Amino acid sequence: MTRSTLLCPPIFYDIVYSINPWMQGAKVDKALAMQQWFQLKNILSHIGVNIKLIDQSPDLPDMTFTANAGTVRDNAVVLSNFKHPVRQGETEHFREWFRKEGYNIHPLPPNAIFEGTGDTVICDDLLIGGYGFRSNLTGLRMAAEILDLELLPLKLTNPNFYHLDTCFALLRPDLGLYYPGAFSAYTISKLKKHMELIPVSESSANKFVCNSIVHNGVIIMPAGNEEVADKLEGYGFSARLINTSEFLKSGGSLKCMSLWI
Ligand code: ARG
Repeated sequence: MTRSTLLCPPIFYDIVYSINPWMQGAKVDKALAMQQWFQLKNILSHIGVNIKLIDQSPDLPDMTFTANAGTVRDNAVVLSNFKHPVRQGETEHFREWFRKEGYNIHPLPPNAIFEGTGDTVICDDLLIGGYGFRSNLTGLRMAAEILDLELLPLKLTNPNFYHLDTCFALLRPDLGLYYPGAFSAYTISKLKKHMELIPVSESSANKFVCNSIVHNGVIIMPAGNEEVADKLEGYGFSARLINTSEFLKSGGSLKCMSLWI
Protein backbone atom coordinates (compact mmCIF):
# COMPACT_ATOMS: atom_id res chain seq x y z
CA MET A 1 0.00 0.00 0.00
CA THR A 2 1.38 3.44 -0.91
CA ARG A 3 1.36 5.82 1.99
CA SER A 4 2.30 9.46 2.24
CA THR A 5 4.30 11.26 4.84
CA LEU A 6 4.76 14.96 5.50
CA LEU A 7 8.34 16.12 6.08
CA CYS A 8 9.75 19.57 6.80
CA PRO A 9 13.32 20.25 5.60
CA PRO A 10 15.24 21.47 8.68
CA ILE A 11 16.38 24.78 7.18
CA PHE A 12 15.73 26.66 10.41
CA TYR A 13 16.00 23.72 12.79
CA ASP A 14 17.85 24.68 15.97
CA ILE A 15 17.82 24.47 19.75
CA VAL A 16 17.07 27.87 21.24
CA TYR A 17 14.80 26.90 24.16
CA SER A 18 14.29 23.84 26.35
CA ILE A 19 10.92 22.10 26.64
CA ASN A 20 12.08 18.55 27.31
CA PRO A 21 14.98 17.02 29.29
CA TRP A 22 17.04 16.29 26.15
CA MET A 23 17.26 19.93 25.15
CA GLN A 24 20.36 20.85 27.11
CA GLY A 25 21.57 23.53 24.73
CA ALA A 26 23.97 21.32 22.76
CA LYS A 27 24.92 23.12 19.57
CA VAL A 28 23.31 21.76 16.42
CA ASP A 29 25.57 21.05 13.45
CA LYS A 30 23.12 22.37 10.88
CA ALA A 31 24.84 20.92 7.81
CA LEU A 32 24.92 17.50 9.46
CA ALA A 33 21.27 17.82 10.51
CA MET A 34 20.36 18.50 6.89
CA GLN A 35 22.36 15.45 5.74
CA GLN A 36 20.67 13.22 8.30
CA TRP A 37 17.24 14.50 7.28
CA PHE A 38 18.05 13.82 3.60
CA GLN A 39 19.01 10.26 4.48
CA LEU A 40 15.58 9.77 6.01
CA LYS A 41 13.88 11.32 3.00
CA ASN A 42 15.90 9.17 0.58
CA ILE A 43 15.19 5.92 2.37
CA LEU A 44 11.49 6.75 2.60
CA SER A 45 11.36 7.48 -1.16
CA HIS A 46 13.34 4.34 -1.85
CA ILE A 47 10.85 2.12 -0.04
CA GLY A 48 7.94 3.65 -1.93
CA VAL A 49 6.63 6.30 0.45
CA ASN A 50 5.03 9.33 -1.19
CA ILE A 51 6.83 12.36 0.27
CA LYS A 52 5.03 15.64 0.91
CA LEU A 53 6.88 18.74 2.07
CA ILE A 54 6.10 21.84 4.09
CA ASP A 55 8.41 24.87 4.39
CA GLN A 56 9.77 25.63 7.81
CA SER A 57 8.98 29.01 9.29
CA PRO A 58 12.20 30.80 10.38
CA ASP A 59 10.86 31.49 13.89
CA LEU A 60 9.76 27.91 14.61
CA PRO A 61 12.87 25.73 15.13
CA ASP A 62 10.94 22.57 16.09
CA MET A 63 8.62 22.61 13.06
CA THR A 64 10.82 19.89 11.52
CA PHE A 65 9.13 17.50 13.94
CA THR A 66 6.02 17.20 11.77
CA ALA A 67 4.69 14.23 13.75
CA ASN A 68 3.34 16.84 16.13
CA ALA A 69 1.25 18.68 13.53
CA GLY A 70 -1.89 16.64 14.13
CA THR A 71 -3.45 13.23 13.57
CA VAL A 72 -4.92 12.27 10.21
CA ARG A 73 -7.50 9.62 9.39
CA ASP A 74 -8.63 9.47 5.77
CA ASN A 75 -9.56 13.03 4.89
CA ALA A 76 -9.88 14.34 8.44
CA VAL A 77 -7.17 15.97 10.49
CA VAL A 78 -7.30 16.86 14.17
CA LEU A 79 -4.93 19.80 14.44
CA SER A 80 -2.52 20.04 17.35
CA ASN A 81 -2.85 22.39 20.29
CA PHE A 82 0.72 22.54 21.48
CA LYS A 83 1.37 22.66 25.20
CA HIS A 84 4.33 25.03 25.02
CA PRO A 85 3.83 28.56 23.64
CA VAL A 86 7.15 28.29 21.72
CA ARG A 87 5.58 25.67 19.43
CA GLN A 88 2.04 27.05 19.23
CA GLY A 89 2.84 29.14 16.15
CA GLU A 90 3.33 25.94 14.13
CA THR A 91 -0.38 25.18 14.12
CA GLU A 92 -1.34 27.95 11.69
CA HIS A 93 1.31 26.80 9.19
CA PHE A 94 0.12 23.20 9.34
CA ARG A 95 -3.51 24.33 9.17
CA GLU A 96 -2.75 26.23 5.98
CA TRP A 97 -0.97 23.20 4.49
CA PHE A 98 -3.91 20.89 5.28
CA ARG A 99 -6.34 23.46 3.91
CA LYS A 100 -4.51 23.64 0.58
CA GLU A 101 -4.43 19.83 0.42
CA GLY A 102 -8.21 19.71 0.89
CA TYR A 103 -8.45 18.08 4.32
CA ASN A 104 -11.39 18.48 6.69
CA ILE A 105 -9.71 20.37 9.49
CA HIS A 106 -10.76 19.89 13.11
CA PRO A 107 -9.21 22.36 15.56
CA LEU A 108 -9.55 21.68 19.30
CA PRO A 109 -10.61 24.08 22.09
CA PRO A 110 -7.85 25.58 24.29
CA ASN A 111 -8.36 23.14 27.18
CA ALA A 112 -7.61 20.20 24.89
CA ILE A 113 -3.82 19.86 24.65
CA PHE A 114 -2.92 17.63 21.77
CA GLU A 115 0.41 17.00 20.00
CA GLY A 116 -0.75 14.84 17.11
CA THR A 117 1.07 11.65 16.22
CA GLY A 118 3.80 12.43 18.73
CA ASP A 119 1.23 11.14 21.21
CA THR A 120 -1.15 9.07 19.10
CA VAL A 121 -1.14 6.14 16.74
CA ILE A 122 -4.08 4.58 14.96
CA CYS A 123 -4.30 0.80 15.23
CA ASP A 124 -7.33 -0.49 13.31
CA ASP A 125 -10.31 1.12 15.09
CA LEU A 126 -8.29 2.13 18.10
CA LEU A 127 -6.56 5.42 18.87
CA ILE A 128 -3.63 4.57 21.12
CA GLY A 129 -2.82 7.79 22.95
CA GLY A 130 -0.14 8.90 25.40
CA TYR A 131 -0.86 11.65 27.92
CA GLY A 132 0.68 13.26 30.96
CA PHE A 133 3.50 15.44 29.65
CA ARG A 134 2.26 17.01 26.42
CA SER A 135 -1.20 15.88 25.24
CA ASN A 136 -3.86 15.72 27.95
CA LEU A 137 -6.75 13.29 28.34
CA THR A 138 -9.23 15.88 27.11
CA GLY A 139 -7.21 16.29 23.91
CA LEU A 140 -7.01 12.55 23.34
CA ARG A 141 -10.71 12.01 24.04
CA MET A 142 -11.75 14.74 21.63
CA ALA A 143 -9.40 13.50 18.91
CA ALA A 144 -10.72 9.95 19.23
CA GLU A 145 -14.29 11.16 19.02
CA ILE A 146 -13.66 13.32 15.95
CA LEU A 147 -11.80 10.52 14.17
CA ASP A 148 -14.46 7.98 15.20
CA LEU A 149 -11.98 5.74 17.01
CA GLU A 150 -12.04 4.01 20.37
CA LEU A 151 -9.45 5.54 22.71
CA LEU A 152 -6.82 3.49 24.53
CA PRO A 153 -5.25 6.12 26.83
CA LEU A 154 -1.77 5.36 28.18
CA LYS A 155 -0.36 7.49 30.97
CA LEU A 156 3.29 8.43 30.45
CA THR A 157 5.28 8.54 33.67
CA ASN A 158 8.91 9.24 32.70
CA PRO A 159 9.78 12.82 31.67
CA ASN A 160 12.56 11.61 29.34
CA PHE A 161 9.87 9.86 27.29
CA TYR A 162 7.45 12.73 27.12
CA HIS A 163 5.73 11.76 23.85
CA LEU A 164 4.25 8.33 23.16
CA ASP A 165 6.43 7.93 20.06
CA THR A 166 9.56 8.15 22.22
CA CYS A 167 8.65 4.98 24.15
CA PHE A 168 6.26 2.99 21.95
CA ALA A 169 6.25 2.00 18.29
CA LEU A 170 3.45 0.09 16.61
CA LEU A 171 5.20 -2.48 14.40
CA ARG A 172 2.06 -4.30 13.26
CA PRO A 173 -1.53 -4.14 14.50
CA ASP A 174 -0.68 -7.06 16.80
CA LEU A 175 2.90 -6.15 17.73
CA GLY A 176 4.52 -3.22 19.52
CA LEU A 177 7.99 -2.17 20.65
CA TYR A 178 8.08 -0.36 23.98
CA TYR A 179 10.21 0.85 26.87
CA PRO A 180 8.67 -0.47 30.10
CA GLY A 181 10.30 2.31 32.17
CA ALA A 182 8.02 4.90 30.59
CA PHE A 183 4.73 3.42 31.85
CA SER A 184 3.16 2.00 35.00
CA ALA A 185 2.61 -1.75 35.24
CA TYR A 186 -1.14 -1.16 35.00
CA THR A 187 -0.79 0.81 31.77
CA ILE A 188 1.37 -1.92 30.27
CA SER A 189 -1.23 -4.53 31.17
CA LYS A 190 -3.90 -2.50 29.31
CA LEU A 191 -1.74 -2.36 26.18
CA LYS A 192 -0.90 -6.07 26.39
CA LYS A 193 -4.58 -6.90 25.97
CA HIS A 194 -4.30 -5.58 22.42
CA MET A 195 -0.93 -6.83 21.21
CA GLU A 196 2.31 -8.65 21.84
CA LEU A 197 4.91 -6.24 23.21
CA ILE A 198 8.67 -6.41 22.69
CA PRO A 199 10.46 -4.61 25.53
CA VAL A 200 13.65 -2.58 25.01
CA SER A 201 16.33 -1.68 27.56
CA GLU A 202 16.83 1.80 29.00
CA SER A 203 20.00 2.19 26.96
CA SER A 204 18.15 1.38 23.70
CA ALA A 205 15.26 3.63 24.71
CA ASN A 206 17.77 6.45 25.28
CA LYS A 207 18.94 5.91 21.71
CA PHE A 208 15.33 6.53 20.67
CA VAL A 209 14.82 3.01 19.34
CA CYS A 210 11.05 3.40 19.84
CA ASN A 211 11.16 6.38 17.47
CA SER A 212 11.61 4.03 14.52
CA ILE A 213 9.47 4.15 11.39
CA VAL A 214 7.81 1.03 10.00
CA HIS A 215 6.59 0.78 6.44
CA ASN A 216 5.94 -2.27 4.28
CA GLY A 217 8.05 -4.60 6.40
CA VAL A 218 10.99 -2.16 6.58
CA ILE A 219 11.96 -0.62 9.91
CA ILE A 220 14.03 2.57 9.76
CA MET A 221 15.80 2.93 13.09
CA PRO A 222 18.06 5.48 14.80
CA ALA A 223 21.72 4.39 14.69
CA GLY A 224 23.24 2.49 17.60
CA ASN A 225 20.29 0.11 17.81
CA GLU A 226 21.86 -2.84 15.97
CA GLU A 227 20.93 -5.31 18.70
CA VAL A 228 17.22 -4.47 18.52
CA ALA A 229 17.47 -4.40 14.72
CA ASP A 230 18.76 -7.99 14.75
CA LYS A 231 15.93 -9.02 17.00
CA LEU A 232 13.32 -7.40 14.76
CA GLU A 233 14.79 -9.07 11.68
CA GLY A 234 13.80 -12.28 13.50
CA TYR A 235 10.21 -10.99 13.40
CA GLY A 236 10.47 -10.56 9.62
CA PHE A 237 11.38 -6.86 9.43
CA SER A 238 14.22 -5.58 7.32
CA ALA A 239 16.13 -2.87 9.22
CA ARG A 240 17.87 0.32 8.01
CA LEU A 241 19.72 2.52 10.46
CA ILE A 242 20.28 6.27 10.25
CA ASN A 243 22.38 8.49 12.50
CA THR A 244 20.12 11.21 13.93
CA SER A 245 22.60 12.74 16.40
CA GLU A 246 21.54 16.32 15.64
CA PHE A 247 17.87 15.66 16.30
CA LEU A 248 18.44 13.63 19.47
CA LYS A 249 19.84 16.86 20.95
CA SER A 250 16.28 18.19 20.72
CA GLY A 251 14.60 15.03 22.04
CA GLY A 252 13.52 13.77 18.64
CA SER A 253 14.47 11.32 15.94
CA LEU A 254 13.08 9.67 12.80
CA LYS A 255 9.44 9.12 13.62
CA CYS A 256 9.13 12.63 15.10
CA MET A 257 10.19 14.03 11.73
CA SER A 258 7.42 12.34 9.76
CA LEU A 259 3.67 12.77 9.79
CA TRP A 260 1.84 9.81 8.26
CA ILE A 261 -1.13 10.93 6.25
N1 ARG B 1 12.05 19.53 20.63
C1 ARG B 1 10.79 18.98 20.28
C2 ARG B 1 9.80 19.16 21.41
O1 ARG B 1 10.16 19.03 22.54
C3 ARG B 1 10.93 17.53 19.93
C4 ARG B 1 9.66 16.94 19.41
C5 ARG B 1 9.74 15.48 19.18
N2 ARG B 1 8.57 15.00 18.55
C6 ARG B 1 8.01 13.81 18.79
N3 ARG B 1 7.03 13.44 18.05
N4 ARG B 1 8.38 13.06 19.81
O2 ARG B 1 8.64 19.44 21.23
